[in-house]
Amino acid sequence: MITLSIIKADTGGFVGHTAVHPDMIAEARHRVEHMVDSELLIDGHVASCGDDMSLIMTHQHGPDARLIHSFAWDTFQATTHIAQRLGLYGAGQDLLSDAFSGNLRGMGPGYAELEFEERPSEPVICFLADKTEPGAWNLPLYKMFADPFNTAGLVIDAKMHAGFEFEVYDLFEEKRIFFDCPADLYDLLMFIGAPARYVVHGVRSKTLDQTAAATSTQRLSLIAGKYVGKDDPVMIVRCQSGLPAVGEALEPFSFSFTVGGAMRGSHHAPLMPVSAEDSHPARFDGPPRVVALGFQVHEGRLIGPRDLFADPSFDEARRQANHAMDYLRRHGPFEPHRLPLEDLEYTTMPQLAARLADRWSPMTTALAEQEAPITP
Ligand code: F6R
Ligand code: MG
Ligand code: MG
Repeated sequence: MITLSIIKADTGGFVGHTAVHPDMIAEARHRVEHMVDSELLIDGHVASCGDDMSLIMTHQHGPDARLIHSFAWDTFQATTHIAQRLGLYGAGQDLLSDAFSGNLRGMGPGYAELEFEERPSEPVICFLADKTEPGAWNLPLYKMFADPFNTAGLVIDAKMHAGFEFEVYDLFEEKRIFFDCPADLYDLLMFIGAPARYVVHGVRSKTLDQTAAATSTQRLSLIAGKYVGKDDPVMIVRCQSGLPAVGEALEPFSFSFTVGGAMRGSHHAPLMPVSAEDSHPARFDGPPRVVALGFQVHEGRLIGPRDLFADPSFDEARRQANHAMDYLRRHGPFEPHRLPLEDLEYTTMPQLAARLADRWSPMTTALAEQEAPITP
């Protein structure tokens, strides 16, 4: 069995929250190469999207492995030191804990991991996003694995016709549920159509009995009345031979759908599919970006990547994203551009509520005064 792990963190931005500094990438590459030489990893690739760095690694230690997670933790600490030395923005911002304790759960970095028996040819896509949240994968995963208007194979490939099983997390109550699609399609949509709370964690082929997709679903913690821990997400999708074709896995991104994120993590904005080179959200800390790196995994080695959105057929989606961004921006601080109060990453509401508490009075008093009988 092979495990493909993407472990990612923002350990400092260059400039502001727009990109990862080349020295940080170089340090991570050097460490990954060293671990390949010393055989902890079979192979590794370092990539970035916006201010997030991803370690894409193959190994035989399984998901949640202490050795792999602690290697990633040490690497992110080393890149944090570089960010500190260069005075980069938000150095170490995703390292929430002081010490590593077993695995990365709840420690800040996000990760998607998928363990599988390598097929004779194993095409995979690593999706990396910046300035959005894990629920951003709900809509594209639904289209890839449940919508025949997106994925022709659901209708015409005998290995796909029986459908897929979706594992969905409730991030508020920390519980999970499985939906058997197509039978449970409408039930599934009721939940994952609310992506701030319900997030697809994985997808499984019923015919092949194999996991096809995994996302970095973060646990949310309720701190001071507000959920924190939403993070720029990554996702792994295995393709072909009874799973969505590469083109079916990319097709959902030809529509620049709206996600929560962008400026201060507090706005709806379109998700723009871009090449790795264009993955630096600058306008209003957006529009949120997604990069798709394709690999052939062979004997655990990562053959690639191919930069799959570096393709003119996604130009229209990019244009659409710019138009949608213009449209949404004109709403300024009004919903639906600004997120609903409960989903804001930044809020001044508790202070405002305290300061203005005395200035509120019951509406009923004013009404009662108006309706009081007029005495002659
Ligand atoms: C969104 C994000 C940025 C920052 C914004 C303000 O996820 O990281 O939009 O929230 O640039 O950053 P601070 O508060 O650090 O000045
Ligand atoms: Mg940042
Ligand atoms: Mg980021």
